[in-house]
Amino acid sequence: MSHEKNSPLTREINKRRTFGIISHPDAGKTTLTEKLLLFGGAIQQAGAVKSRKTDRHATSDWMAIEQERGISVTSSVMKFNYRDFDINLLDTPGHKDFSEDTYRVLTAVDSAMMIIDSAKGVETQTEKLMEVCRMRNTPIMTFINKLDRDGMEPLDILADIEEKLQIECTPLTWPIGMGKRFKGVYNLYKKELHLFSAEKETLAKEGIRIQDLSDPKLDELLGSQADDLRDDIELIEGAADPFELDLYLKGTQTPVFFGSAINNFGVQELLDAFVEMAPTPIGRKAMSREVSPYEEGFSGFVFKIQANMDPAHRDRIAFFRICSGKFTRGMKVKHHRIGKDITIANATIFMAQDRTHVEEAYPGDIIGIHNHGTIKIGDTFTTKEPLKFTGIPSFAPEHFKRVLLKNPLKTKQLQKGLMQLAEEGAVQVFRPLRGSDYILGAVGELQFEVTIARLKNEYNVDAAYEHVNIGVARWIGCDDKKCLDAFKENQMASLAMDAEEHLTYLTTSEWQLGFVMEQNPDIVFNKTREYA
Ligand code: G4P
Repeated sequence: MSHEKNSPLTREINKRRTFGIISHPDAGKTTLTEKLLLFGGAIQQAGAVKSRKTDRHATSDWMAIEQERGISVTSSVMKFNYRDFDINLLDTPGHKDFSEDTYRVLTAVDSAMMIIDSAKGVETQTEKLMEVCRMRNTPIMTFINKLDRDGMEPLDILADIEEKLQIECTPLTWPIGMGKRFKGVYNLYKKELHLFSAEKETLAKEGIRIQDLSDPKLDELLGSQADDLRDDIELIEGAADPFELDLYLKGTQTPVFFGSAINNFGVQELLDAFVEMAPTPIGRKAMSREVSPYEEGFSGFVFKIQANMDPAHRDRIAFFRICSGKFTRGMKVKHHRIGKDITIANATIFMAQDRTHVEEAYPGDIIGIHNHGTIKIGDTFTTKEPLKFTGIPSFAPEHFKRVLLKNPLKTKQLQKGLMQLAEEGAVQVFRPLRGSDYILGAVGELQFEVTIARLKNEYNVDAAYEHVNIGVARWIGCDDKKCLDAFKENQMASLAMDAEEHLTYLTTSEWQLGFVMEQNPDIVFNKTREYA
C-alpha cells in the first residue's frame, strides 16, 4: 500500500471533496447549487441552473421526461474547482423525480450538505434522506436558508433539527435578525461580522473583524441589534456544544451556517468551511476488507445506471465512483460479477454544463461508462483482487401497482423489459408466489410513469396499471430453513420474488407488518437489500 505524503496520487486525493445536497423541495437546493458553481467559476451567470429546472417542470408528458433525463444527467454530477480543491457535487434529484436513485447517490458521496428553509424547519424528505446518510454515518454540514424572510427563531430551528434528525447542532455562524431586520451573520470561529447585502452574482466581501463583542463598533454597525447579538452569543456559547471536527466526521454533530442563497449571502463561508473540514475521499468497505483510496490498485463501483442519455443511441451510462488508485483512459479492468476483463475506452467526466472525455480521474471522482446492458448497479471493477463493495443497497419501495398487459402475446417482451428496467434500478419488480402477474414497486411515483413509457418506447409493449392493496415491502431473511418453510407456507399469499430472486414480503400497512413480525420473531424483515 502506498500512502506517501507527497506522492502525486496522495495530492490528487487530498484535494478532492465529493458530496451531495439533501433537502426538501423548495428549500433552495437549486439556488445554492447555482451559487456554488458560480464561486467555482463553472458557470458564468446566475440563472444557468435555474432555467434548466424551470424547463424541467414545465410539462410532464413523456417527451418532457425524455428531455428531462438528458438534462438531469448532465447536471447529475457537477465537477468544479474552488481554491485548490476539486469538488464533485452529486445531484440528489428531489421533488417528483424522487426515486431510489435519490437515495443511492448518497452511497457514493463522502459527505452531505443539508439545506433547511428557516420558515419551515425540518421537512419530510430531509428526514428520509437523513435516514440514508445515517446508514454510513455520512458527515453533514447544515445551511439554514432564507434568512431574508421571517422564519422560525434560530434556536428553535436548531432544536427542531436535533429532535427530528437526532444529530447534535453546533452553530458556526449566527444570524443577526431576520426578514426585514436581517443585518447579517456573525462568524463565531473567525470572530468576524458579515453585514448583509444582496449580492446576487459576486463573491462575498471581506468580513469585519470584531474580536471582542463589547467593541462599540458593533453598536455603530448594528444599532439596537448589537445587544441582541451579544445576548444570543452568550446564550449559545453557554448552551451549544463546541464544534469538534471528529464528531462532524463521525456524523454525530453538524456545523450550522445561516444565510440566504438567493442573495448569495453566507454561501462563500459555507463553501470555505466545507473545503476545509469536509472529508477527503474515504476508505470503502468491501466484503473481504476495507479499501483505502491511497492504494495504487484501481477500484470502484457503479451506483447508478441511466438509460438513453443520447436519444439517438439506445445505450446506457453507468455512473462509477472511483474508490482507489488512478484511472487512465483505455485502462483494462476486471468486471468481477461476470469475470471478464473490459477496457474503459470512452469514459465521460461530468463538468457542470457539459460532458467531456476523461483522460485521468482519481478517488472521489465519478466517471460515466458506456454500457450495453452488461453493467448492473453495485458492480465492482478493479485492477486488483476481486472485491465486492458493500453499502450500495436497494431500498424498500413505498408505492405499488399491478401491471396489466394489453396484448397477452407480448408476455415475453414485458418480462424482458421489466427485468432490464429492474436491473437499472428504474423500478422494482415482484412476482407473487401465487399467481402470474407482476407487481411493481417504486420509491417515487414518477418511476411508474417512466416505466410505462419506456416499456412502450424501448420494448414495444403496451401496458397499464391496476391498483393493488399493498403499501409495504420487506426482504425476508432467516437462518433456520424449517422456520422459513413454515413462514412461507403460512404467508404464501403475501410473498413474492424480486428481480434477483429474493423472497419479499408484501403487505397492506406498517401496522399489518408489525403484527406479522410479532408473530414471527425468527424471521428478519429487511428494509434495504444489498445488490447481489
Ligand atoms: P429547490 O431546488 O430546493 O426546490 O429550491 P429552489 O432553489 O428552486 O428554491 C425554491 C424557491 O425558494 C425559489 O423561489 C427560490 O427563488 C427561493 N429561494 C431560494 N433561496 C432563497 C433565499 O435565500 N431567500 C428567499 N427569500 N427565497 C429563496 P420560487 O418562487 O419557487 O422560484 P423563482 O420564481 O424565484 O425562480
